[in-house]
Amino acid sequence: MASKVVVVTGSNKGVGFGIVRALCKNFKGDVILTARNPELGASAVKELEKEGLSPKFHQLDINDHESIVKLRDFLQSTYQGLDVLVNNAGIAYKQASTAPIAEQAEVTLKTNYFATLDACEVLYPLLRPHARVSNVSSMVSQFALAKCSDEFKSRFVSKDITMDELTGIMKKFVQSAQKGTHKEEGFSDSCYGMSKIGVTVMSMIQQREMDKKGSQDIVINACCPGYVNTDMTSGKGSLTIDQGAETPAYLALLPPDVKEPRGQFVREKKVAKWSM
Ligand SMILES: NC(=O)c1ccc[n+]([C@@H]2O[C@H](COP(=O)([O-])OP(=O)(O)OC[C@H]3O[C@@H](n4cnc5c(N)ncnc54)[C@H](OP(=O)(O)O)[C@@H]3O)[C@@H](O)[C@H]2O)c1
Repeated sequence: MASKVVVVTGSNKGVGFGIVRALCKNFKGDVILTARNPELGASAVKELEKEGLSPKFHQLDINDHESIVKLRDFLQSTYQGLDVLVNNAGIAYKQASTAPIAEQAEVTLKTNYFATLDACEVLYPLLRPHARVSNVSSMVSQFALAKCSDEFKSRFVSKDITMDELTGIMKKFVQSAQKGTHKEEGFSDSCYGMSKIGVTVMSMIQQREMDKKGSQDIVINACCPGYVNTDMTSGKGSLTIDQGAETPAYLALLPPDVKEPRGQFVREKKVAKWSM
């Protein structure tokens, strides 16, 4: 039988690197560190090898559909499936950025929502029974939810929102940001926050879809790693990358037939509030 396998996206540095380290220590199977830049990936693998760990490497740029397909084909031919997927890759403009909101909305949503969804759509067919998916969102999704109009809030927390509807709202946000009308249309002003609402709600929808299909104990959750000291936070975060990896890795390693968390948003290993 092929060995079990976990993939962590965007793991050459930061929280993703910490997740790979944690999974190398605690997952019984192969751990694949991925990076869009193979040189950065190779040096991250080397660093972990110096610690006596043995991650494998595969290139992955989630903004490049062909790159996701290549990873899927590699997983299919080498492992005939996938046991754990951690969707960690993400970007954020710095608070001080002077880039226009039109650009920030398009670029941020492209990676954090649309590309993450693309990676899920390509890789989910490989998920085996008892697979676990840990989607790295952010507590900023909760803050952004609070800033949305009641109409959007009620859709984002509803149990009947579909992926098509969510994707339509995410596209609408980008279009309204480009017109400068996003706030009056009921969206939060935070492009990062809107993209992470997308990741949180996407995870909830995916769990419902899996359950509807009768998938065998596949569990999908979204989480916040906490405020972590990485390049994204310009070193200001209060947690180390290993501390930031704890919740995403906990969701990646949930035991068989777990009842909760399932299709939820998790902070500090606990189900967090996702309501109006
Ligand atoms: N740090 C925090 O306090 C915090 C809080 C809440 C949520 N998060 C979330 O945690 C995740 C990791 O953040 P971080 O703080 O570790 O950020 P980071 O240090 O900037 O690392 C981000 C990682 O994602 C990769 N990446 C970006 N775009 C990619 C793409 N298109 N394809 C593949 N990989 C891509 C980066 O690769 P390159 O090296 O090539 O750029 C890097 O490996 C993100 O989803 C972030 O939103 C972080």
